[in-house]
Amino acid sequence: MFWPWSGPVVLLIWIYLCCGLEGRTQGRSGSGEWTPWGAWSGCSSTCGQGASVRSRRCLRIPQELVCGGDSHQYRLCRLSECPSGAMPFRELQCALYNNRPVLGSQATYQWVPFYGAPNLCDLNCLAEGHTFYYTFGRVLDGTPCGPDSEGLCINGRCLTAGCDGVLGSGAHEDHCGQCGGRNGSCLFVRRVFSEASPPLGQSHGYWNVTLIPTGARHVRVTDRSRNYLALMGSDGRYVFNGDWAIDWPGAFEVAGTQVHYSRTRDHVESLWAVGPTGEDLYLQVLFQEPNPGIEFEFWLPRDAYYALQSHRSPLRQPQTREVEVGPQEAASAWTKPALSFPGPSLPREQPSDTESCQPCPGAKGRTQRLLHYCRSDFVFRARVLARLRVGEETRYDIQVQHSYKNWTPLERREFLWAPGTCPCPLLAPRAEYLVAAQRHINYEGTLDRLLLPHAGYARPWTPREDARIQEVARRCPQAAPLG
Ligand SMILES: *[C@@H]1O[C@H](CO)[C@@H](O)[C@H](O)[C@H]1NC(C)=O
Ligand SMILES: *[C@@H]1O[C@H](CO)[C@@H](O)[C@H](O)[C@H]1NC(C)=O
Repeated sequence: MFWPWSGPVVLLIWIYLCCGLEGRTQGRSGSGEWTPWGAWSGCSSTCGQGASVRSRRCLRIPQELVCGGDSHQYRLCRLSECPSGAMPFRELQCALYNNRPVLGSQATYQWVPFYGAPNLCDLNCLAEGHTFYYTFGRVLDGTPCGPDSEGLCINGRCLTAGCDGVLGSGAHEDHCGQCGGRNGSCLFVRRVFSEASPPLGQSHGYWNVTLIPTGARHVRVTDRSRNYLALMGSDGRYVFNGDWAIDWPGAFEVAGTQVHYSRTRDHVESLWAVGPTGEDLYLQVLFQEPNPGIEFEFWLPRDAYYALQSHRSPLRQPQTREVEVGPQEAASAWTKPALSFPGPSLPREQPSDTESCQPCPGAKGRTQRLLHYCRSDFVFRARVLARLRVGEETRYDIQVQHSYKNWTPLERREFLWAPGTCPCPLLAPRAEYLVAAQRHINYEGTLDRLLLPHAGYARPWTPREDARIQEVARRCPQAAPLG
């Protein structure tokens, strides 16, 4: 003799025995566990936009808390457009009450949707030819909240779809274009172009400000001077303000996005585009007067950043002298009047003078090497080309000769940063080193760089050092810090 419900109960007990205990031995918290999501249901509508649903169950024993989160999830489904004569979903639901006695009397009415009532997800229908409406409970799940609304009604609430398509998830695209991301998958570049005017002997007035590499998002440029910004496509054709002709402000279609260009009466020019840009763009300036500084920023995929970096490498493009500002400095500098810009607080590049530096504490032994190797994101052999002081930091321009370990691909030329103006260990220009470096990304995602931490590992490169590091590499646990 079995009760009809004994099957599920047996199953639950079995699940409890088999799976619940395991969770417990691992010290899991005292709440139940969700089953995996079931399959998505079919679309609630037969054409146009609707919702589909999937569900999961919380498995728990009586002592456990209920699972956190929702047991149902709804997402937008979009079928082919409805035929032009088709009756919209809400009209259909109102029309179900046509010619039926509904209000406790024998009178019947023709019902059409009414959108003036407080809750859009109630089935509010207006009696045609009359001045009253009636609320027939809730609309069916998947009914659009209104004629011009993006949202759909679910359980009587109007929900809009996040970028993941899930209704009410609240997921947004971050500035990298990742749905629900935290700006971590791309890099924020913010710089000031501070070249004062074209070099002497340069007859024409257009000058390159920056490459805006393919894939840039949220591009913003500001110029507060009588100079004119100009934008050039990858085919060498101007988008605006080219060939000595100044265009009216407006929106320009280029590189698969819309570039908005504005210019105020008091000569504040700005440009912005949501992106992503589908091709490289060149931002230029047409000089009329000395340049007080052109501020630009965009978000870039990492590989495009390397292109930008090599593009502006001081050795390959000796004519550009950009000043890279940190986010705080930029924010304060931008509120200053144009003429005092750039302020004296901006970090400037200058050859580093280490004469007054104290000697670094002595080098350490084999365990240190192992630790450094295993914990570092990058281990490579590099030649130091230059050492520069940038603000309170030291920047080495290095040529990577060989990589033993790398978190992301290393370019042949990189910048290696070290804290302080007297970093330890101190690397000498023209010498070659074996370096263990960290990848350093700040919280805002505005900096992504190679960092040689204080008391980090850098030894002059020798074949013997090379052999040691190879040996260490074999002993390092495989779980590399790919976090
Ligand atoms: C991404 O960066 C933008 C601009 O700084 C910011 O407004 C936004 O809140 C950030 N998004 C996340 C998820 O951190
Ligand atoms: C600007 O950059 C483009 C593309 O690299 C190049 O063709 C052009 O000669 C540059 N113009 C100036 C004035 O340097």
